[in-house]
Amino acid sequence: MTERVYIFDTTLRDGEQSPGASMNTAEKLRLATQLEKLGVDVLEAGFPAASEGDFDAVSKIAAKLERTQVAGLCRANKADIDRAWQAVKHARNPKIHTFIATSDIHLKYKLKMDRDQVITAAFDAVKYAKSLTDQVEFSAEDASRSDRDYLCKVFGAAIAAGATVINLPDTVGYAIPSEFAELTRYVLDHTPDMHRTILSVHCHNDLGLATANTLAAIGVGARQAEVTVNGIGERAGNTSLEEVVMALKTRNNYLPMTTGIHTEQIYPTSRLVSMITGIIVQPNKAIVGANAFAHEAGIHQDGMLKNPMTYEIMQPEAIGLNANKLVLGKHSGRHALRDRLRDMGYDLSDEELNIVFTKFKELADKKKHVVDEDLEVVVTEGILRTTEYFKLEYLHVSAGTSVMPMASVELSINGRKVRGADWGNGPIDSAYNTIAKLTGTNSELLRFTVSALSGGTDAQGEVTVRLRENGLVALGRGSDPDIITASAKAYINGLNRLEYLKAHPMQASQQTV
Ligand code: KIV
Ligand code: ZN
Repeated sequence: MTERVYIFDTTLRDGEQSPGASMNTAEKLRLATQLEKLGVDVLEAGFPAASEGDFDAVSKIAAKLERTQVAGLCRANKADIDRAWQAVKHARNPKIHTFIATSDIHLKYKLKMDRDQVITAAFDAVKYAKSLTDQVEFSAEDASRSDRDYLCKVFGAAIAAGATVINLPDTVGYAIPSEFAELTRYVLDHTPDMHRTILSVHCHNDLGLATANTLAAIGVGARQAEVTVNGIGERAGNTSLEEVVMALKTRNNYLPMTTGIHTEQIYPTSRLVSMITGIIVQPNKAIVGANAFAHEAGIHQDGMLKNPMTYEIMQPEAIGLNANKLVLGKHSGRHALRDRLRDMGYDLSDEELNIVFTKFKELADKKKHVVDEDLEVVVTEGILRTTEYFKLEYLHVSAGTSVMPMASVELSINGRKVRGADWGNGPIDSAYNTIAKLTGTNSELLRFTVSALSGGTDAQGEVTVRLRENGLVALGRGSDPDIITASAKAYINGLNRLEYLKAHPMQASQQTV
């Protein structure tokens, strides 16, 4: 019988720590629902002690999910643990995930504690968490740079206190696969009573080795992988869910292990994460990148036509790409839209459906076929974006080879309508200048990317921007069949996210700018 590897998803916690990737509660709830559909075993919904916003999101996710275990992260102290428990306790299957650093560097400079104090803190934290719930995970932050024997002692204390999962993080992405496998084996062999728990691994991608390290650890006995969709996360990100899952599926002959992931949900989940966070997936990203299944060289195309197995180790359908798409259009009614959205995981109230239906009709007037990617945008922009401080009401741009580019814009700012016009180097620059003037903001545009949301000349343009203002960084996303309008929407979305960060300093303080 093949063994099971548990998938612990931390897109909503470590993933949200990607610079500028903060999500609002409605967005987190939508993503959590999709992650449950994807089949993750554990969903780390947030760090409840970090902010009121995190607490609220974790509580709502805990109350909503039906099957998935919901974890709340907390440091190894009573106040944090209480906060995490308050947030997850209504889940059908709650979990407390507590952590403390174990490397000498962290002990000396960050915690200012000695080794014995850390062992006591780990034991007490797990014991206390265990008095609240049965499912307790313990993580040793910076484990890969910790003294091995000391690490095993800390893990032994956590197991003695009742931890059900022991997590071995490569917090700073420092490990090399063969070394990480050796460390994993060492921990399995030298930690007292290790057989009573599951060993988990949590890798960061600073050296581009997160997936390799995770697979190396699974190869020698780790049975839980901590991952994020698209590999988003702190700094260079975390191990990517889709890479680990598809590696186990594709190379089952070498690593005979299964996961509970419904792989055909991988691509829709990847799209949703990108849409909500505004972090685009690089085209050559393994599994979910736009080029992951594109064969360019003539020799490859020839081989593919003769037999796809010549150059294709996985089928795109396995991750939900090229799946038969139900297309909606301007003649589709409210009923068809509701059914489609329900299949995609949205259960909308009548009021929400009305909003989405109006936006859908507007889009269907401009675009013949409305596909799932378009509907995600309609829902994201229509109902998930609850904090719309700035809203685009009207945009007119004149540009061409013989006119000075000029934009006139109407915005509503917290409900109040304002209008203005300005010049620029091009149509987008003029729209951005006008919006900056009207909003009184002076953000710096760090990045601007345009791509097409689906195929065809009537595809919606998708624009992503990265803005910085007074040290805060936010991503913005906007889509529209008209690329200038999409650009304006992305800019305004970024400004709204900056406003959100200004109002939620705890979320802003977690940013690595
Ligand atoms: O990277 C890390 O060490 C973490 C822990 C909190 C598990 O994210
Ligand atoms: Zn981490």
